[in-house]
Amino acid sequence: MPQHIKRLIGVFAIFIVLFLVMRQVLKPSSFGELGHFRAKAIYENTLRPMHYTIADSCTKCHKSIRADKDQGFHKKLKCEVCHGPGLKHSLFANQFKGKELPDSLILYKPGERKDCAICHQINAARIKILFDTINNTMIKQIDVAEHNPPDLKANEPAKCIDCHNPHQP
Ligand code: HEC
Ligand code: HEC
Ligand code: HEC
Ligand code: HEC
Repeated sequence: MPQHIKRLIGVFAIFIVLFLVMRQVLKPSSFGELGHFRAKAIYENTLRPMHYTIADSCTKCHKSIRADKDQGFHKKLKCEVCHGPGLKHSLFANQFKGKELPDSLILYKPGERKDCAICHQINAARIKILFDTINNTMIKQIDVAEHNPPDLKANEPAKCIDCHNPHQP
């Protein structure tokens, strides 16, 4: 075998041994126990605080709103899509029934025009679906600036919810 090939094999052998040693040293202890990832990562994630509740838990205390929503165009939207994470509210709001909720339990009420625009503003990038009955997109889109804009002269900003019930638009 020519001399230079022997040296090359030597160099490769050194690298392979180095790789195996470093791998043993650097590999996290729980790697590979359950698959190609750190098994401990699952445990670490269970320790993170929860923010969202299960979809149906709002219904327990807000039955009539849920009933309204189920009859309208927003029936498929979950409450927390609009109101934000509601776990703490769901657990503790009942202690304040009939009283004012403390700030930490008050949920966001998306009543501004920009809140509805998140989903309803015309957006060319939105996915198009063949044979969809709603103008070929999942959601009815409007030009929010054009659609019943606030009457600035009368100084009466027309919020979307002045005309549309958010729970049954
Ligand atoms: C354990 C009962 C309970 C559960 C579960 C619950 N709420 Fe409430 N919620 C209340 C109470 C009590 C109030 C205080 C005002 C009232 O009596 O309507 C309230 C008020 C609200 C308000 C109005 C706050 C304000 O500033 O006017 C919103 C919005 C709301 N809840 C949304 C939700 C959503 C979304 C969920 C599900 C994630 C939820 N609630 C789950 C009991 C509950
Ligand atoms: C499309 C977004 C949207 C969804 C989905 C939604 N809400 Fe609301 N919700 C609003 C807005 C906006 C207001 C503020 C209405 C106002 O100020 O008149 C509101 C107000 C409320 C209030 C305060 C009392 C009232 O009637 O104004 C409660 C309680 C509430 N929502 C609970 C719920 C629950 C429970 C669900 C799920 C069943 C839900 N919301 C789903 C947008 C939404
Ligand atoms: C998270 C996305 C989302 C948000 C936020 C949202 N909507 Fe919707 N909206 C929908 C979906 C989905 C439908 C059902 C499909 C449709 O009819 O466009 C719908 C339907 C509607 C419709 C009926 C359209 C029709 O087909 O005639 C109106 C009106 C409407 N929404 C008003 C509002 C208003 C007002 C707000 C703000 C309070 C709002 N929406 C916030 C997703 C959203
Ligand atoms: C002054 C009252 C008024 C205000 C404010 C208003 N709307 Fe409307 N909206 C209507 C009426 C009435 C219709 C049904 C007739 C039509 O299609 O123009 C409608 C229709 C819609 C539709 C269905 C459009 C379609 O092509 O069928 C959507 C979605 C909608 N509005 C969302 C919104 C959003 C989002 C806002 C806030 C940015 C808003 N609206 C503000 C009165 C209003």
